[in-house]
Amino acid sequence: MARKILITGAEGQLGKALQIGLSGKFNILSTAKNSTKLANNRRNVQKLDVTNQDNTATLLASFQPDIIINCAAYTDVDGSELNKELAHQVNVEGLRNLIQLSEVNTHIIQISSDYVFDGSNGPYSEDDHTFPVNYYGKTKLEAENFLRGTRRKWSIFRPNVLYSSDLFCKGNFFAWVYKSLLKKQAISVVADQTSNPTLSNHFVNAVFQAIIMDYEGILHIGSDDYISRYEFAVEIAKVFGFDLGLISKIDTDSLSRKVNSYIAERPLHSGLLIGKLEKELNSLSYSTNYNLKLLKRELNFK
Ligand SMILES: NC(=O)c1ccc[n+]([C@@H]2O[C@H](COP(=O)([O-])OP(=O)(O)OC[C@H]3O[C@@H](n4cnc5c(N)ncnc54)[C@H](OP(=O)(O)O)[C@@H]3O)[C@@H](O)[C@H]2O)c1
Repeated sequence: MARKILITGAEGQLGKALQIGLSGKFNILSTAKNSTKLANNRRNVQKLDVTNQDNTATLLASFQPDIIINCAAYTDVDGSELNKELAHQVNVEGLRNLIQLSEVNTHIIQISSDYVFDGSNGPYSEDDHTFPVNYYGKTKLEAENFLRGTRRKWSIFRPNVLYSSDLFCKGNFFAWVYKSLLKKQAISVVADQTSNPTLSNHFVNAVFQAIIMDYEGILHIGSDDYISRYEFAVEIAKVFGFDLGLISKIDTDSLSRKVNSYIAERPLHSGLLIGKLEKELNSLSYSTNYNLKLLKRELNFK
C-alpha cells in the first residue's frame, strides 16, 4: 500500500511543488493554513494551522501519516525581527506540535535553511557549525535541534534561495527578477550575498529519492555553482533574453540604508556543499544556467 504523506504549508512555493511532484507516487494529504485560499482551489487541500493544537491533533488522528513533510513556515526574514513571537510559534512550536501529536513511528521531514549558518565562510557542509545571524535563522535552528533531540525518525533538508516556476510565491527570488525584467523595470540586486540557489523541482526529486531510500539525517540541496544574487539575476536575464542594462549591483549595507524594511542581518558568504546529497542519494546537482533553461521550458517561454 502506498505510504501516507502529510504535507503542511502545501500552498507555499515548496509545498506546492512537493504536492504536485509526489502525487501519484504516494497517498498524499496536502494541507494549508488558510481555508479562504482553498475556495478557488481545485486540488484537494485541507485546512491545517500547525500552531493550532486541536486542528493538528484531529487531522493527524484521522489521516495517521507515515511521513510528515513540514513546509509550513513563517518565511519573512525581516518580518521575523518584528514579529518574533509569530515566527517562533510557526517555525518552532508548529514543528513541536507535529512531533508531539503524531504517532511515534511517523517519520518527520523538516525543511530548514542555509540561514542556520552565519555566512562568514560558506559554502557549508552538513557537519559545519551553525550560528544564525538573524531571528528567522534562529527559529530554523531551534526547530532542527528540537527534532534532532527527539527519538523520532527524522530528516532535515536545507535549501538556499529556493526558486521555481511559481511566479506568485512571495519567497521566490527568480519570480521577482523575472517579472521585473519582463516589465522592463530596473532592479538593484545585492552582489555580496553568495549561495548556490535551489531549484524546487530538484528539491522535490531529492526528497522523493530520500523517501524511497528511507534516508534519515541532514542533507543540503543546491546547484553545483556558487554565485551572488547579482550574478543569479544576470544569469536569468541571459537565459530569458532580458535587457542586462536593467540590473545594477548594490551591496547589503547600502540596500539596508535604502530600504527601511530590510532590517535583518544576512549571512553573506553562504551556500551549501552538495557532496553528501550526491553520495547518499546518488542525486546529481546541476549548474544554475542548466536549471534556468529547465525553467524556461517549464514556463513555455519563447
Ligand atoms: N524561499 C526560500 O528562498 C527558502 C530558502 C531556504 C529555506 N527555505 C525554507 O523552505 C521552506 C518552504 O519555503 P517556501 O519558499 O515554500 O515558503 P512559503 O512560500 O512562504 O511557504 C510557507 C507556507 O507555510 C504556510 N504557513 C505559515 N504559517 C502556517 C501555519 N501556522 N500553519 C500552516 N501553514 C503555515 C504559509 O502560508 P501563508 O502564506 O498563508 O502564511 C505558506 O503557504 C520553509 O521552511 C523555508 O524556511 C526557503
